[in-house]
Amino acid sequence: MERRQAEIPPRGERLYEGKAKVVYATSDPGLVRIYFKDDATAFDGRKRGTIGNKGRLNARISAHLFRVVEAAGVPTHLVAVAGEQELLARRVEIIPLEVVVRNVVAGSLARRLGLEPGRVLEEPVVELYYKRDDLGDPLINRAHVRLLGLATPEELDRIEAMALAVNRALRVYLAQRDLILVDFKLEFGRTGDGLLLADEISPDTCRFWDRETGEPLDKDRFRRDLGGVEDAYAEVWRRLEATA
Ligand code: TMP
Repeated sequence: MERRQAEIPPRGERLYEGKAKVVYATSDPGLVRIYFKDDATAFDGRKRGTIGNKGRLNARISAHLFRVVEAAGVPTHLVAVAGEQELLARRVEIIPLEVVVRNVVAGSLARRLGLEPGRVLEEPVVELYYKRDDLGDPLINRAHVRLLGLATPEELDRIEAMALAVNRALRVYLAQRDLILVDFKLEFGRTGDGLLLADEISPDTCRFWDRETGEPLDKDRFRRDLGGVEDAYAEVWRRLEATA
């Protein structure tokens, strides 16, 4: 349920700082405030920079796309937009898995399997990565998830079903805005009453290609020094906002 600005609890202690976000406690033990930074990193933090307005744009794009997936029946951690570049969210225990869904060959899938970038996949491919910076977030399988005790088989079934539901909803929604959803990464969290989609859905964590030109409108512009990074993020927001 959307909260009015007046009901947004003030920031408490800093709970966690990652490469792109800072998570703060609030006066409500069940809620956190997530601040989106302008900092950008790639290649396990070996490439660093800042992208103007990224925090503001990613907070807005994420909130918007979380609402789209909620409308498709996938519960998320989003409670409200809490400020210029901040979201109010349910406090969850993040499962240390990066769940990647792919519709088109790009990035590490092209490199790992020797496939031609741009090939449209007949079925979406779901991949699991172990969220461990010191190991370089390795690709893992269901047996590894069990071995590491990251999630139960039932949780993993639910996570994969939610990830595919997110893909179906976002693909259609973005196609209507002339964006091809090439691939994206999701993270999930546990609460007392089940799993929620958490983290963010933004040009930092998705590949969006313009349908007309095939140009990337996402963090690949930063990773590959293509220029026009801030404009690309702003263009994604413009296309979402225009039809909100
Ligand atoms: P990849 O092709 O590099 O494996 O990336 C797949 C998708 O996951 C792409 O949309 C970008 C996203 N991603 C992240 O959000 N964080 C990461 O650390 C990496 C490597 C990829």
